[in-house]
Amino acid sequence: MNTKNLLIGFAIVYVTTGIAIGVGLYYAGYNADHSPAPKRDMFQELQDEISASKIDQYLKHLSSVPHLAGTDQDLQQAEWLRDNFNKSGLDRVVVVPYHVLLSYPNMTQPNKVYLLDDKGNANFTTSGKQTPLSQPEESSPLAAPNFNAYSGQTGEIESDGLVYVYYGQQEDYDHLESVGIDVTGMIVLARYGASFRGNIVDLAQKKGAKGVLLYSDPKDFAQQGRNEVYPDSWWMPGMAVQSGTVYLGNGDPLTPFYPAIESAYRIKESDALLPSIPVQPIGYDEAEVLLRAMNGPLAPEKWRGDLNTPYSLGPGFQYGSGWKIKMNMLTANKMVTTYNTIGMLYGEQEPDRYVLVGNHRDAWVLGALDPSSGTACMLEMARAFGKMKLDYGWRPRRSLVFCSWGAEEYGLIGSYEWVEQHAKVLSQRAVAYLNVDIAVEGNYSLWGSGAPLMNKVYLESSKKIANPNTAEVNDGRPTVFDTWVHRYPDANHPSKPRVGILGSGSDYTAFMHVLGVPSIDIRYTYQEEIGSYPLYHTLYETHHLLANIMDKGFVYHRAVTQLWTEVARNLLESVVLPMDLDWYATYLNESVAGIKNRYGAQLEANQATLTHFERAVGNFAVATRRFQDTTLARLDPNDLLAVRRINDQLMQLERHFVDPHGLPNRPEYNHIVFAPSSSDSYSSSSFSGLTDLLEAVGNETEAQRPKEWAQIQQHLSVIAFFVDAAGESLNDYL
Ligand SMILES: *[C@@H]1O[C@H](CO)[C@@H](O)[C@H](O)[C@H]1NC(C)=O
Ligand SMILES: *[C@@H]1O[C@H](CO)[C@@H](O)[C@H](O)[C@H]1NC(C)=O
Ligand SMILES: *[C@@H]1O[C@H](CO)[C@@H](O)[C@H](O)[C@H]1NC(C)=O
Ligand SMILES: *[C@@H]1O[C@H](CO)[C@@H](O)[C@H](O)[C@H]1NC(C)=O
Ligand SMILES: *[C@@H]1O[C@H](CO)[C@@H](O)[C@H](O)[C@H]1NC(C)=O
Ligand SMILES: *[C@@H]1O[C@H](CO)[C@@H](O)[C@H](O)[C@H]1NC(C)=O
Ligand SMILES: [Zn+2]
Repeated sequence: MNTKNLLIGFAIVYVTTGIAIGVGLYYAGYNADHSPAPKRDMFQELQDEISASKIDQYLKHLSSVPHLAGTDQDLQQAEWLRDNFNKSGLDRVVVVPYHVLLSYPNMTQPNKVYLLDDKGNANFTTSGKQTPLSQPEESSPLAAPNFNAYSGQTGEIESDGLVYVYYGQQEDYDHLESVGIDVTGMIVLARYGASFRGNIVDLAQKKGAKGVLLYSDPKDFAQQGRNEVYPDSWWMPGMAVQSGTVYLGNGDPLTPFYPAIESAYRIKESDALLPSIPVQPIGYDEAEVLLRAMNGPLAPEKWRGDLNTPYSLGPGFQYGSGWKIKMNMLTANKMVTTYNTIGMLYGEQEPDRYVLVGNHRDAWVLGALDPSSGTACMLEMARAFGKMKLDYGWRPRRSLVFCSWGAEEYGLIGSYEWVEQHAKVLSQRAVAYLNVDIAVEGNYSLWGSGAPLMNKVYLESSKKIANPNTAEVNDGRPTVFDTWVHRYPDANHPSKPRVGILGSGSDYTAFMHVLGVPSIDIRYTYQEEIGSYPLYHTLYETHHLLANIMDKGFVYHRAVTQLWTEVARNLLESVVLPMDLDWYATYLNESVAGIKNRYGAQLEANQATLTHFERAVGNFAVATRRFQDTTLARLDPNDLLAVRRINDQLMQLERHFVDPHGLPNRPEYNHIVFAPSSSDSYSSSSFSGLTDLLEAVGNETEAQRPKEWAQIQQHLSVIAFFVDAAGESLNDYL
């Protein structure tokens, strides 16, 4: 295809998709002129452009006011992003609304928890909100009282018993059962920190609990003691509360699988995947009062935290019989509109190939870390890319799409609805999705998760980013990569850093797990072994916390922006897409070996075989090798048709692992290799469709086993088929 034909092709694309008349004009100008801009080192230009103080200013603005999804501030920030993207020089910016079911507390009357004495009088009442401690914005009347979104019941819920269930996981209930404690009809008090709160509530509900109280123990979240806390450090003060959703699904609860657009059919709220019991978060000062009032057996040593109480398990109260625990709940679901802001910089040679970068915008309160640290970085990245266009007339080879998602906190809603709406186009044209949620949750090391195909571009890019930590530089680690591999070496490949598997904690989920668009997630993290940074989802996620405690000078923010920008630039500009075929083959090989190691004997004893799966993985490795040694090695980069054909194969490879029918018992997840674990939505493992089945086999009844093994055998054959088909897609001929 010559340039002229390409131009016509592009014009057709624009007309049919209705995106970008402007680009056609730009093209015409460029060609008439015949004087391409002087060759510039776009890597260096972009890197130099990225400014820590600009990120600081963006963050200051974004975190100056609460911006909960579905509120006026959600729309205001969506429009502020639109105006900024526009000012940066992006070609087209749109604000996309979705009408969805969210959940809110009563703004003037907080939810309360009461300890009632034998006369029914309140001996203790929780405050229901967090006290402003330091920054003026903490006093905003727009700050919502403490709540967990989609809490299941309004009104007064009362119980004779309160049971301490530690982290509220299956093994914790097993222990309670072993000491004769049944939580049926009880309210349970669970600790944050070991799994996604939606799973804590789901299990409590299955166990028959009447309600759930969640708190963060100082042993996890105030490790320097209760006096060394915010605003002097990043640790959690006693009345701080982690808000958060307890919805286990993804996307708008009322429009599963389909976009929440005007024509959408909405299911009944009672049919949605929402909890039916009430949930309320409380501060650890308050949890302490409740725990001190409890009697019953002492909790095991491991379960005891740092509160001034022996940690009795309950369910009774030590002050006598007739004492009760009561929740007064006003959290209610509500139909509202949330917004995505989508900005596009059109590509020059392949405008119909998209590299997408995304971050959510909504926060529980001020959200300086989650997610505004990421939003500030994205704004700065957009400004840098836009400046290259405005100053030099530069455009990337492919199109760059900036996505600011709404209502992520409630269940990845903005990104899911958008992906559902554009599923076919994205499936055909999206090259990769690069997510940053919290850009800086610590300053210890880069922490990366991502698809194996992204391995090379991710790692190679991190080798080009200057280390923001001067002590590390002085120790001989000049790049972000050096500290990353030093702090988190991959056990099997020590010259590589460990790259996590994408679970379901953020907006890459719909791209990776539903569409099979290879994705990565970037953040700087902390050293401590805790489930989240201490002030996660509290009122105290402020600009002060980042600017004066966690990232003085915003140098870690700048490093994240530089890395994010470079990964995007590489994917936008490389003539041949930099997909890491070798690493995918190695990854699959190690996964099947791990499964054989762990379940091999069990499989064999039940006449299930890994033979086909292993053979398929071997075939995949052969196919990727052949593709690299012959197809890629012989590629003439001036043969535009050949380049395009090969890039299509590379771009589509991840899609070949997507089963439109979904995983066994989980039709909402389609990627057969990667899926969030079914017992903890935050984490993920490879082939969890298979491993979940293997973990569950025989847990119900013996009579179920033949059926369960039949399902395992069927899924094994599906896996082998998809891995084989993925390898075959690298051939030219059917
Ligand atoms: C974007 O900016 C241009 C001028 O720079 C203006 O004409 C246009 O209306 C703006 N668009 C939006 C959506 O603000
Ligand atoms: C919140 O509570 C106040 C006081 O009880 C009441 O007047 C108001 O209607 C409630 N708001 C909502 C949205 O339910
Ligand atoms: C709560 O009850 C305990 C035990 O009876 C008592 O010591 C304490 O003073 C009571 N507190 C309040 C505020 O009534
Ligand atoms: C890094 O973060 C810790 C809190 O985790 C903080 O004490 C320290 O001052 C931070 N370092 C820099 C350079 O910001
Ligand atoms: C896969 O693993 C086997 C050993 O388990 C090894 O012999 C083979 O080279 C590996 N193949 C790839 C592509 O890593
Ligand atoms: C099934 O039971 C085993 C041991 O009895 C346990 O380790 C596992 O977690 C259970 N799995 C599920 C999904 O309940
Ligand atoms: Zn977030």
